[in-house]
Amino acid sequence: MTAQTGLSVEAREVRREFAVRDGTAVAAVAGVSLSVAAGAFVAVRGRSGSGKTTLLALLAGLDHPTSGSVLLDGVDLARVSRAERTRRLRPTGIVFQNGAAVPRLPVWENVSIGLVPLGVPMAERRQLAEAALETVALQHVVARRPEALSAGERQRAALARALLHSPRLLFADEPTSNLDPESAEIVCDVLAGAHASGATLVVASHDERMLARAARVVEMREGRLVSE
Ligand SMILES: Nc1ncnc2c1ncn2[C@@H]1O[C@H](COP(=O)(O)OP(=O)(O)OP(=O)(O)O)[C@@H](O)[C@H]1O
Ligand SMILES: [Mg+2]
Repeated sequence: MTAQTGLSVEAREVRREFAVRDGTAVAAVAGVSLSVAAGAFVAVRGRSGSGKTTLLALLAGLDHPTSGSVLLDGVDLARVSRAERTRRLRPTGIVFQNGAAVPRLPVWENVSIGLVPLGVPMAERRQLAEAALETVALQHVVARRPEALSAGERQRAALARALLHSPRLLFADEPTSNLDPESAEIVCDVLAGAHASGATLVVASHDERMLARAARVVEMREGRLVSE
């Protein structure tokens, strides 16, 4: 399901500040340097509010650093054209913490939505979505709307969606946080499988099952990486 070679990603002195109401700024990520080699499996742990989601969004190119840079496969995303940036980000994927989905669209459409701009016919999209949903034990919710899924089911559907693109670099934000042990094990297996097929994996997690599988665990504290 996953392409053969992973992509590397690197944060260099990355800082991300958010403006707060009183006119000051809070640094959710306060100067992080992290190099994730092609094909690596890195877990990011840390307390709630330590900056994990913010860091993942920066590494995944969904957000821009206030200062510092993010290099995807050695290329600074801020220094290329928009079109080039989009092209470079295409083989990457992210599983959001809340399993965000488009409301009202059936689960299979949500899972295969990224294939629409590529012109993949509907029947094929449905087939691919069904296969991806089966890998996360969700074959029974293919035609349901995302609103009718439990939090854990939504999270697994989000994983199916990310895997459909056979990403070479995959980010997963606390992918097992809403899951019962059995489903968590499935998600760990699926992610480990993507990694075994060559994808680079960066997972934010507190889950010991996940941390045990990662080759490297880093910890965030108040927006910074604690030395390993
Ligand atoms: N858009 C925003 N505006 C203002 N502050 C923000 C914003 N996003 C995040 N923050 C703040 O930045 C800090 C880090 O948030 P982040 O979501 O990255 O933490 P986290 O480690 O993922 O936490 P959790 O384990 O609860 O998911 C928090 O204090 C949060 O309130
Ligand atoms: Mg988070």
